[in-house]
Amino acid sequence: MGWGYYFVMTPGFDSIFRSRMIPLFLAPQAGISESPFRRLCREYGADVVVSEFVSADGLCRGSEKTHEYLRFHDDERPIGIQIFGADPAVMADAAALVGEAYAPDFIDINFGCPVKKVVKRNGGSGCLRDLRLVEDIIRAVVGATSLPVTVKTRSGFDERSRDPVGIGLRIQESGARMVTLHPRTRADLFGGRARWEEIRALVEALHIPVVGNGDIRTGADALRMKATTGCHGIMMARGTHGAPWIFTQARAALEGKPIPPDPEVPERFRICLRHARNAMEFGGDPDRAVVEFRKHLGWYTKGIPGGRALRERLFRVKTLEEMETLLAGHLESHITGTGP
Ligand SMILES: Cc1cc2nc3c(=O)[nH]c(=O)nc-3n(C[C@H](O)[C@H](O)[C@H](O)COP(=O)(O)O)c2cc1C
Repeated sequence: MGWGYYFVMTPGFDSIFRSRMIPLFLAPQAGISESPFRRLCREYGADVVVSEFVSADGLCRGSEKTHEYLRFHDDERPIGIQIFGADPAVMADAAALVGEAYAPDFIDINFGCPVKKVVKRNGGSGCLRDLRLVEDIIRAVVGATSLPVTVKTRSGFDERSRDPVGIGLRIQESGARMVTLHPRTRADLFGGRARWEEIRALVEALHIPVVGNGDIRTGADALRMKATTGCHGIMMARGTHGAPWIFTQARAALEGKPIPPDPEVPERFRICLRHARNAMEFGGDPDRAVVEFRKHLGWYTKGIPGGRALRERLFRVKTLEEMETLLAGHLESHITGTGP
């Protein structure tokens, strides 16, 4: 490793753990952690965001769709771009390309994705079947970019190979600057509970920062994660769906302040529509953007009076204006009681 390496400035990444406050991360989530949602979560208190995973093969092939995933605004920083793949040389090329073309604050490697199509080609958690490959990928990526390289992993491929500390030590020795653990195996998928005790064991074993992830659904859960694991950062995925304000709630809990309640329905709808408008502006094709926004509509309207009937209608909308009309009508008829 040359001297130059030590003098490379990485202020965005370095700032993450410099603050006295434990940083809150928006998790990488395919189809969800896109730029408009990342910006919204930053506004509500996410300290760091990570892109959805992008294929190293796709990047190197110059796939337009893959490159579309990578656009971000400066106000999202610090931001990590996450890549996945099973070939160290291709991962290295992809990292170099991401660094040069997009200059994120760090590059995150995905060893967690359990999706069959990815695992079959040894990508994502598929790599966990061959820890030498994990090391080779990390070393190749670290050697190809001056950006900090981080890793997100599960606890193993299956119960037999479950070894979060062994995996974490190899990740650290290979040059990663931070590791996020989702303490389930690939075989677990999303079943059972995330074993937070494995996060604690990793914190005790490593000297790089460990970010805890898995099953945080409320602000109080975030405080419990910090207290029981001693993790250096907290990452949330499903708990953010239709609820970007969970970051504000988590921050309050961590600071020992009263946790603010969920916003009332009119405020929720305002947030939803702002998110939708940004998504329409960001996505190139408005028809596709509306269809892709449907999942968010489902989440923002969960648990509200008359929600089920509203969702049935929302899932058929074709434009942003239809969305606005339906939500305004619902407020009048079900929420504020001013309708007919
Ligand atoms: C819809 C969805 C998409 C996801 N996509 C990714 C991804 O692209 N990269 C990744 O590392 N993890 C991905 N994950 C996993 C999450 O980042 C996180 O590790 C997992 O959901 C556990 O955290 P949670 O309990 O807070 O949801 C995804 C999860 C969900 C639900």
